[in-house]
Amino acid sequence: MADILRRHVLLLTVAAVLFSTVPVSNSIPFIVLHGLGDKCSGGVSDYATLLSNLSGSPGSCLEIGHGGHGARDSWFMPLTLQAKLACNIVKNMTELSQGYNIVAESQGNMVARGLIEFCDDAPPVINYVSLGGPHAGVAAPPNKWCHAGPFCAIANFFLKIGVYNDFVQDHIAPSGFVKIPDEKTKYLEHSKYLPKLNNERPDQRNSTFKDRFASLHNLVLVMFLNDTILVPRETSWFGFIVDGGVDTIAVAQLTALYIEDWIGLKALDDAGKVKFVSVPGDHLMIGFDDTVKYVVPYLK
Ligand SMILES: *[C@@H]1O[C@H](CO)[C@@H](O)[C@H](O)[C@H]1NC(C)=O
Ligand SMILES: *[C@@H]1O[C@H](CO)[C@@H](O)[C@H](O)[C@H]1NC(C)=O
Ligand SMILES: *[C@@H]1O[C@H](CO)[C@@H](O)[C@H](O)[C@H]1NC(C)=O
Ligand SMILES: *[C@@H]1O[C@H](CO)[C@@H](O)[C@H](O)[C@H]1NC(C)=O
Repeated sequence: MADILRRHVLLLTVAAVLFSTVPVSNSIPFIVLHGLGDKCSGGVSDYATLLSNLSGSPGSCLEIGHGGHGARDSWFMPLTLQAKLACNIVKNMTELSQGYNIVAESQGNMVARGLIEFCDDAPPVINYVSLGGPHAGVAAPPNKWCHAGPFCAIANFFLKIGVYNDFVQDHIAPSGFVKIPDEKTKYLEHSKYLPKLNNERPDQRNSTFKDRFASLHNLVLVMFLNDTILVPRETSWFGFIVDGGVDTIAVAQLTALYIEDWIGLKALDDAGKVKFVSVPGDHLMIGFDDTVKYVVPYLK
């Protein structure tokens, strides 16, 4: 899992040296949020440096959790807390106080959107580039795709209790965005993260979350065409399996979230601010050319 998450960056570092430039100090800064089981050393930090080199904007990887334990905390700290800690860190970074851009990988997108929607008195997020984000949820819990490593084994052990069990929701981060298609009622009642993030509960919709999300200048949603981790891969575009269906995939524009505009996605799209991008490759395997084309322009 972690290997998959990091491999893409290796491809990039070689090319990076050829394209490096000196960052300019008055451009908008950015942060990079890593995914599940990852951390801010090695791959993701190199990717942040690469983006900084290519865009000329200052930026760095923000570690999930209390710092230094991203690999563990991204697994076992509930997303609500991951987002809250990231919110405190961001508010503390004076260089971001005039606004900033976000690039997020996989589960890091749940934290990114927490920063955008939930973080009170925070600097504004201007552009948001999402790489393989499980925005509409995933239909298959981690035990379907996570097979190696100690954290994976621990998580899978607890997931046997049931993904919507309170203890699991409080201790296994990815359970916060698992949406089993035929357990929608359980999901809405017991999932502690995604229903709130997506304003999915009819009686609890918060227009502040929507206003904040709709105030983005650009939303770039990158889907990996050969994504074997996210089911369905269209979740990266806010698409999800239609009610009652198993093989039928909804495009974002056919979901109630979009049509009734629960979080401002439609408003953004109508304003031409959403880029639905698809790239070849498995989960997070973005190539150098696609990085230059779809990520770097939004950091300049
Ligand atoms: C970024 O640029 C610096 C300075 O030119 C260079 O030393 C470094 O290798 C580059 N790193 C990446 C990942 O692009
Ligand atoms: C914020 O910055 C202060 C001073 O640098 C530091 O003591 C504090 O731990 C920081 N808080 C967070 C949440 O990073
Ligand atoms: C909606 O969210 C905002 C921002 O976090 C909060 O201040 C407000 O109390 C919430 N409104 C409701 C009705 O929960
Ligand atoms: C995508 O997956 C298919 C089937 O597994 C494979 O044939 C194809 O080469 C893959 N393409 C990329 C770009 O990874």
